[in-house]
Amino acid sequence: MKFFIDTANLDEIREAKSWGILSGVTTNPSLFAKTGGKLADFEAHMAKICELCEDIPVSAESTAETCEGMVEEGRRLAAIAPNIVVKLPICEASLPAAHTLALEGVRVNMTLIFSAPQALLAARAGARYISPFVGRFDDIGDDGIQQLETVVSCVKNYSYGYWEAEGGPEVITASVRTPNHVTQAALLGADIATVPFAALKKCVHHPLTDRGLESFAADWERVKNA
Ligand code: G3P
Repeated sequence: MKFFIDTANLDEIREAKSWGILSGVTTNPSLFAKTGGKLADFEAHMAKICELCEDIPVSAESTAETCEGMVEEGRRLAAIAPNIVVKLPICEASLPAAHTLALEGVRVNMTLIFSAPQALLAARAGARYISPFVGRFDDIGDDGIQQLETVVSCVKNYSYGYWEAEGGPEVITASVRTPNHVTQAALLGADIATVPFAALKKCVHHPLTDRGLESFAADWERVKNA
């Protein structure tokens, strides 16, 4: 499974990239707002992320509400850098927008996916990536992983005629909150998990690893002083 980072914070992206594990970046308007950025700086900020990550996909979300607006903004975002992926929330307006953009060779990440029919429609419209949310199902007392499993199985049952040469459409597990979400997503064969930096750091650690490191350090001190 590939790891994307779910953030617009340049320092977090830089650090995750330095680990040698990063295959992509996803952002959304809330994540951009968290960096203190203003709407007027949005495209320049996306350009900075793309500069930092020129060899991996960077999802930039459109805030347009009409199909025409999404196509226009999608084209503008795609022109920022070749690795931009235009993120669109699933709705009646975004399906034809994704289709138009796909036919023009623009990669779309269809987001806010909460059901298999939504995912199948996104794939059929030509989305390069499909992003079902896990944590937000858990928030309402549902089982986000079970929902993800349904989406992955349904999407993988078919081919769609877009992006096949590069292995698309790929399912991005989104709204990931915990290392266990990552484990479960990998077990059921999701292609990608996009993980916030804090959760990514938790994935590096395990209490037994930390305890082992402490006892190695103590033993090493004893060896040095012997
Ligand atoms: O990639 C989507 C993600 O940012 C949403 O996460 O935690 O707001 O549900 P969350």
